Amino acid sequence: MMTAIHSHDAPFYQPQGNEVALFEAAYAARLPVMVKGPTGCGKSRFIEAMAHRLERPLITVACNEDMTASDLVGRYLLDAGGTRWQDGPLTLAARQGAICYLDEIVEARQDTTVVIHPLTDHRRQLPLDKKGEMLHAHPDFQLVISYNPGYQSLLKDLKPSTKQRFVAFEFDYPAAPLEAQIVSQETGLDAARAGQLVQVAHAARQLKGHGLTEGISTRLLVYAARLMVGGVNPGEACRMALVRPITDDADIRQTLDHTIDAVFG
Ligand SMILES: Nc1ncnc2c1ncn2[C@@H]1O[C@H](COP(=O)(O)OP(=O)(O)OP(=O)(O)O)[C@@H](O)[C@H]1O
Ligand SMILES: [Mg+2]
Repeated sequence: MMTAIHSHDAPFYQPQGNEVALFEAAYAARLPVMVKGPTGCGKSRFIEAMAHRLERPLITVACNEDMTASDLVGRYLLDAGGTRWQDGPLTLAARQGAICYLDEIVEARQDTTVVIHPLTDHRRQLPLDKKGEMLHAHPDFQLVISYNPGYQSLLKDLKPSTKQRFVAFEFDYPAAPLEAQIVSQETGLDAARAGQLVQVAHAARQLKGHGLTEGISTRLLVYAARLMVGGVNPGEACRMALVRPITDDADIRQTLDHTIDAVFG
C-alpha cells in the first residue's frame, strides 16, 4: 500500500504550463496541494518529478475504502517482545519531512480523511491518540492528495472542510503536439507514429459521455507505443492497448477500430 521513493534520476515530466513554478511556490509556502484530473494524465508523474526537484523523499499511499485512520497514522503491533508502536506512512512523512502523496483520497472514508485536518492547517500537527503523542510536522513536510473528479458520486465527494485546506491543480490530457512528444520521449517511438496514436485518442475522447465514461489516457498511449516499439503492428497495438481496455460495447469498439484503420491505414 505504501511506497517510499528516493529517486536518483530525475523522472521525465513534460510540463503543460507553469505548474512546476506554481508547485514550487506552494511548497515554499508549505501549502497542502490537491491534484485533480482524469486517470493517466500525469498527476503522479508530476508529483514524483516535483519531489525529486525539491529533493524531498516521496511517500505515496494508495487510498481505498477499507483504509482506516490507523493505516495512515500507525498502530501498536504485537511481537515477541510485547507491543511496539509502528508509525503509519503519514506519520513517517510528517516526522521525516517527506512529501506524502495520498492517491485517490476520495476512496477513503470521511472518518479516515479527517485525520489529515490538523496537519493541513496552521497547526501542522498530527495527534497520535493511541500513543499519547502530539507530533509536530517536520518543517519540510508537505501533504499532496490526488483525485479523479469524474468517477465519484456526490456521496463520495470530499467534505468542504477537507477541500478547503488545499490549493488545487486541475490537470487534463496535454494538447496534441505535447502529448505526442511525451509518448515519443517515454518510449522512443518516432514522432509521426506518436502523433497518430494521439489522433486515435482524440477520436475516443470525443465519445466521452456518448457511451464511454472515460477517454483514452496518456498512460494507454504509452502502452500502445511500447508495444509498437517492441514490433507489434499499429493496428494490433491500438486494439490491445487503447480499445479493449476501455470498452465492452461492440458499437464503440467498431467505431474505434475504424478510426485506427483510417489513421494508420
Ligand atoms: N506530463 C507528462 N510527462 C511525462 N510523462 C507523462 C506525462 N503525462 C503522462 N505521462 C505518462 O503517462 C503515464 C501515466 O501518468 P500518471 O501515472 O502520472 O497518471 P495519473 O494522472 O497519476 O493517473 P491515475 O489517476 O490513474 O493515477 C506516466 O507513466 C507517463 O508515462
Ligand atoms: Mg496516479
